[in-house]
Amino acid sequence: MNLSVIILAAGQGKRMCSSLPKVLHLLAGKPLLEHVVTTAQHLGAQQIQVVYGYGGDTVPSRLPHLKVNWVEQAEQLGTGHAVAKAMPFVKEGKVLVLYGDVPLVSAATLHRLLDAADPALSLLTMQRNDPTGYGRIMRDEQNRVLRIVEEKDASPSERQVTEINTGILAVDAEHLRSWVGALKNNNLQGEFYLTDIIALAVRDGVPINTVSPGSDVEVLGVNNKAQLAELERHYQRAQAQQLMLQGVTLYDPERFDLRGELSAGSDVVIDVNVILEGKVTLGDRVRIGPNVWIRNAKIGNDVEVLANCVIEDAAIETGCRIGPFARIRPETRLAQGVHIGNFVEVKKSTVGANSKINHLSYVGDTSIGKNVNIGAGTITCNYDGVNKHRTIIGDDVFIGSDTQLVAPVEIGSGATIGAGSTITSNAPADKLSLTRVKQQTVDDWQRPKKKN
Ligand code: UD1
Ligand code: CA
Repeated sequence: MNLSVIILAAGQGKRMCSSLPKVLHLLAGKPLLEHVVTTAQHLGAQQIQVVYGYGGDTVPSRLPHLKVNWVEQAEQLGTGHAVAKAMPFVKEGKVLVLYGDVPLVSAATLHRLLDAADPALSLLTMQRNDPTGYGRIMRDEQNRVLRIVEEKDASPSERQVTEINTGILAVDAEHLRSWVGALKNNNLQGEFYLTDIIALAVRDGVPINTVSPGSDVEVLGVNNKAQLAELERHYQRAQAQQLMLQGVTLYDPERFDLRGELSAGSDVVIDVNVILEGKVTLGDRVRIGPNVWIRNAKIGNDVEVLANCVIEDAAIETGCRIGPFARIRPETRLAQGVHIGNFVEVKKSTVGANSKINHLSYVGDTSIGKNVNIGAGTITCNYDGVNKHRTIIGDDVFIGSDTQLVAPVEIGSGATIGAGSTITSNAPADKLSLTRVKQQTVDDWQRPKKKN
């Protein structure tokens, strides 16, 4: 059976108080709309129509990677009008209507809704103690759904009804096509209401089934930043729970944020206030200290990341120790057993096995061999103000503290660089190179004394 999904995403979202269209706001690092598209894909939808409007091309141009058909609704004349815009692209089969600002609806709930639409119209509805703001489900004495009344159009007694319309529904394409074609906007808001198709289904004798969501959060919409934050917490809590059940130790699941995908080995331990973004892989027995931010990184077995580190687009192999207070920037590869200590920045560099950069250094555009010791305060001067240049350091090199390596420059294997040197030409292998002004002692010098 062909399944088409129509996602309504044309609204501005005034209450977000933002220039960004609502569906582009991020939940766990991903635009709201993308969450809904992902769910539609999990359902096996053959086509996904996204109705966009507010902000013109902003939404499609920010999300070019989504495999959807973009349908423009230049004027937002109502949910029924939005669906009508998409119908020319919808093939025969079942249609599921979703909302770009209701990001947490689960595939399991939608499967039940789709099953209930066979052969019928099925609505996702729920009971709410406070139904304010929602369309109300009207039923007859036999409990059959008759119609949906929008809050603004409802009489005082209709407003007492606590069964509400979540907006999500499933129905076959041919019925939907004829019903949305027949919608009128003679209501208080002057809009074409999708909800008016329910009365048309009743008129045509199409049975109407209702299904309720697995949990209330699934149908919560995002209308303002407070609701966005609420859904973010729900989402984070659920992710943390899942990770803990897979064996990841989270010292405090309330202080853990995953904005992307984490693949974690066994006995991973994560301290508080850790933020993981993009694609992160943690090997077995990885330990992450407090206040660490990691984005797109592959971290091998037995790596320890101490407090307050920032790691981005990096590959870190087995047994490395990073931090505290280290910054590993993009295109860095640390081979096994590397130690990167406090206030060390490494960018676009490879560091060979068991090499150590323990204190206060900048290493950029550099290739470092095995068993190298980089002394405190070493700086690779990779930038001449116009171009970047590389530094190459062989195996078993010892760089004394407070050294500047002015790139392009090469330090041969086994070389030693004396502390405080400014190295501007290549240093040969296995030799001591240093640039250093001779120390002198001034015998007749006297320390100044305070005048009266
Ligand atoms: C709608 C339902 C209401 C339900 C509620 C659940 C209708 C008429 N009412 O009301 O029964 O209880 O959702 O939240 O359907 N949109 C477009 N184009 C438009 C209008 C809306 O794409 O022309 C999109 C919006 O961006 C939004 C969604 O459709 O994502 C819902 O629109 P909204 O105006 O918020 O509908 P409600 O009044 O909340
Ligand atoms: Ca709404």
